Amino acid sequence: MIDQINSLKEEINSLKASSAQDAEALRIKYLGKKGIITALFNDFKNLTGDAKKTLGKPLNELKNLATEKITELKDSAAIIPDSALAELDLTRTSAPLPLGTRHPLTIVRNEITSIFSRLGYTIAEGPEIEDDWHVFSALNFAEDHPARDMQDTFFISRGPDVLLRTHTSSVQTRVMEHTQPPIRIICPGRVYRNEAISARAHCFFHQVEALYVAENVSFADLRQTLMYFAQEMFGPETKIRLRPSYFPFTEPSAEMDISCNLCGGKGCSFCKHTGWVEILGCGMVDPNVLDACGIDSKKYSGFALGMGVERITNLKYQVKDLRMFSENDKRFLEEFTSAH
Ligand code: DAH
Repeated sequence: MIDQINSLKEEINSLKASSAQDAEALRIKYLGKKGIITALFNDFKNLTGDAKKTLGKPLNELKNLATEKITELKDSAAIIPDSALAELDLTRTSAPLPLGTRHPLTIVRNEITSIFSRLGYTIAEGPEIEDDWHVFSALNFAEDHPARDMQDTFFISRGPDVLLRTHTSSVQTRVMEHTQPPIRIICPGRVYRNEAISARAHCFFHQVEALYVAENVSFADLRQTLMYFAQEMFGPETKIRLRPSYFPFTEPSAEMDISCNLCGGKGCSFCKHTGWVEILGCGMVDPNVLDACGIDSKKYSGFALGMGVERITNLKYQVKDLRMFSENDKRFLEEFTSAH
């Protein structure tokens, strides 16, 4: 057996392979289940006494040699030979890698926050699981306000005071209770409402809230900010219009419309032939809200505004069905590849 081992060692040392397949064939020939070296190991098991003692070491050496040699052959076969390299065009552009795309809501949210950051606003965030005080009480909601009803708000079974925030105005409360003016924040985030899911309503959606509190902040400041935002977002031709409205946390309150960006204000089916589309709610922060959060309402005033990101996205990209935003259909998401 020792002679066989020695001649196999020589044979293995002189092995050659021109491809990875050749090398694999050699591995099977020598080391495979029915390979030559494997067979020697099987014979070795039946040996006894001195023969077993003397043959163990050389047999193992043979196996190691074969393993190393064949690995080496495989590795060098993988290297492209110079002749083949000469034919490669290394200046060719590579095949395009499929890149992911940003979600349309992310694109629009980033655009909103970037417009406000140019006005000096910084981003503030708060928890989605909230308590009644931050979402309702501090924001001047009456004890029996319908938004507090189970029909509109998701309560968490842990207790009547734990709920999913219904608007990002709760982040106002969180910032104001810990910060003295001047405050200039923009609060993007997800909100939840107990609504049946349809093309026009969802049980979760996204809002961006803005809040500015300082000395002598006036309604004119609010109007100018809104105008800047609308024209940055929808183009310099955009007109705005404010209609009186009501929110518990602002006084006076207003809703803002912009001239329809599809028909330029002439009237179309999108704006129901009015030439205007509603985009957000706003107003001067109610002094009760400032006082509830520990800010002196005699010294400071402020404005707030809140908008739905889905709504702005629909206006920009005419997405007809709200459910598209959360279905993760690649065909829909890929439409926004070039949007930003
Ligand atoms: N929180 C309101 C909502 O969810 C939106 C809103 C309206 C926010 C007026 C404001 C505001 O800050 O002043 O419908």
